[in-house]
Order: sequence, then C-alpha cells, then structure tokens
Amino acid sequence: MADWVTIDKEKCTACGICAARCPFCFAKQGDVMAAFADEDRCNLCGHCVSLCPTDAITHNKMDMGNFESFDGPAELDTDTFLRFIRERRSHRRFKDKAIPRETLEKLIDVCRYAPTGSNVQDTGIIVVESPERRQKLSDLTMDFFEDLGGRAQETIESMKADGSFKAGSNYMLEKAAQYKDRLGMARAMGFDAIFYMAPATVIFHAPVQTSAPKDNGVIASTTMGLLGRTMGLEFTYIGLFELASKSYQPLIEELALPPGHEVTSCIIIGYPAMRFLRTVDRKPIETKWE
Ligand SMILES: Cc1cc2nc3c(=O)[nH]c(=O)nc-3n(C[C@H](O)[C@H](O)[C@H](O)COP(=O)(O)O)c2cc1C
Ligand code: SF4
Ligand code: SF4
Repeated sequence: MADWVTIDKEKCTACGICAARCPFCFAKQGDVMAAFADEDRCNLCGHCVSLCPTDAITHNKMDMGNFESFDGPAELDTDTFLRFIRERRSHRRFKDKAIPRETLEKLIDVCRYAPTGSNVQDTGIIVVESPERRQKLSDLTMDFFEDLGGRAQETIESMKADGSFKAGSNYMLEKAAQYKDRLGMARAMGFDAIFYMAPATVIFHAPVQTSAPKDNGVIASTTMGLLGRTMGLEFTYIGLFELASKSYQPLIEELALPPGHEVTSCIIIGYPAMRFLRTVDRKPIETKWE
C-alpha cells in the first residue's frame, strides 16, 4: 500500500471508478482495490477522493476537511451567466475606498481552485495596497516605456530614412513608439496610466520552468476578477506592467520575485467609480467547423 492514499476496505465496494480515472495509482487486485499513489505517479488532483461514491479514499497529502460534499452542480442559469460575462468591462476609475482585507483574502483563496497545467499549483500572488508602492511600480513601468518607445522611435526614423519603413508592417515597433507619447503625456499630467490609482494591484507570478505558467496566471487572475464582480468590485488586466516586468532590470530588481519566477498576469481591482449602461459590440469570431 502506497503512502499517499489509503482505501478503507470496509467502505470500498471495488466499483472501479478510482482505477478508471487514475490507472497509474489504483488497480484491482482480485476483489479488492489497491492504491499505489506516490510522488512519481500522483499529482494531487484529488479526483479519486471527489469521485469515490462510498467516501472510502483518504489522501494523506491533502486536507481532507477541504473536500466538501455536494449534490449536483450549483445552479446558474445561462442568461444570467452570459449577462455577467458581457457586463464585465475594463474599469479605470475607482472609488477612493479600500477593499476590506477579508474580501481580498477571499479573492486570493479562490485562486487555489483555478486549474493549473499538470496541477502544479505554483502561482504566487503579490497584493499591492500601498499607494507609495503602487506609484513606484507605476513609475518604473513608465520609465520602461519611455526607454523602449524612444528606441522604437529612433528605429522608425532610421528605417524611414533608408526607405525600409512601411506603416502597419511592424506592430510592436509602432505600438512602442505610440506608448511613449501617450504614457509620457499622462505622466506629465501626473496621471497614473498604469494602475489608475486602483486600491489594489494584484500581481501573479510563477516559475518560468513549470507547466503553462502564463496560462495558469491568467486563469487565476480571471477567476479572481470574476469573483470580485460578485462582490461589487471591477477589474482590469494590466499587460503594460507585465511586459515591463519581463525585461526592465530596475523593475525586476524592485519586484524581487523568487528566483526563476516571472510575472504571469496582473490586474487592478476596486470599487468602480463609473457605471456602464450598455454592453458592447465585438467582431465575430473567425470559426472553422471540421
Ligand atoms: C491581456 C490583456 C492586457 C491588458 N492590458 C491593459 C493595460 O495594461 N492597461 C489597460 O488600461 N487595459 C489593459 N487591458 C484592457 C483591454 O484594453 C480591454 O480588455 C479591451 O480594450 C476590451 O475592453 P473591455 O475589457 O472593457 O471589454 C488588457 C486586456 C487584456 C486582455
Ligand atoms: S472509487 Fe471508492 S469504492 Fe470505488 S473502487 Fe475506488 S475506493 Fe473503492
Ligand atoms: S489524487 Fe489524482 S493522481 Fe493522485 S491518486 Fe488520486 S486521482 Fe490519482
């Protein structure tokens, strides 16, 4: 019997569900089910415990008190859910109102239940509440774009000079040059065009060498943001900060993430100061049926 999973032989009916779900860690031996879960085979997904109809499985590496029984899925009707998704918009003006710590803790806790590639569960979270800290990170992000945009503008100028520049053919270069102007203007007016003075900035980070770090970060931040919406909060992804955090050394040093980690997502979140009155039109999705 492997250490990680114990099967209560009194409760087990040898129905085979655990083995059908996880053939590496469970196998029928005669009339009884045996478990072989260990570090090499088990990724702590918990499916065996959640699926066992007789509650016969104990996973010794997991908090069994956190497996709550439920009878059928929570009911959420399609139209309400669709409205909830369509009413989500990026908010860039927030009330000057702090988010209570318990609310933030709930928002962090829900990220535990967002799926991760290979169930790695290694996304970390930094919550920036301090206005001084937010300003520091905003300033460094702006510095990055001034630097990047300046170099992009020089490149564009020299390409124009040698005739190799074609408008619209180098998206990133042109975008970087635009950002320098746009963000520089905001900065000159004393406006925080990175975090919009939101009461909370949430930075998601993970080791680069892991399973799908970026996807895990975005799924977690989206989960957090959507839960926040049920609490009267609104959120916006901040890709500008994320981009700067990947290569701008002063920002990398300021963030001081654990070794090998990088930012995988960032959102600002707060109580909205503006109310949207209409949904929005979007381009049709190019779809191919096969
Ligand atoms: C990955 C990603 C990065 C984004 N980065 C920023 C950002 O840095 N700053 C910002 O103001 N908005 C940012 N946005 C918001 C988008 O501009 C916005 O989602 C888009 O214009 C659609 O508008 P909506 O969210 O209001 O529906 C980002 C959105 C996504 C999905
Ligand atoms: S799912 Fe539960 S009851 Fe069924 S074989 Fe596995 S341990 Fe036994
Ligand atoms: S937790 Fe997942 S991987 Fe581990 S034994 Fe159970 S089903 Fe298998």
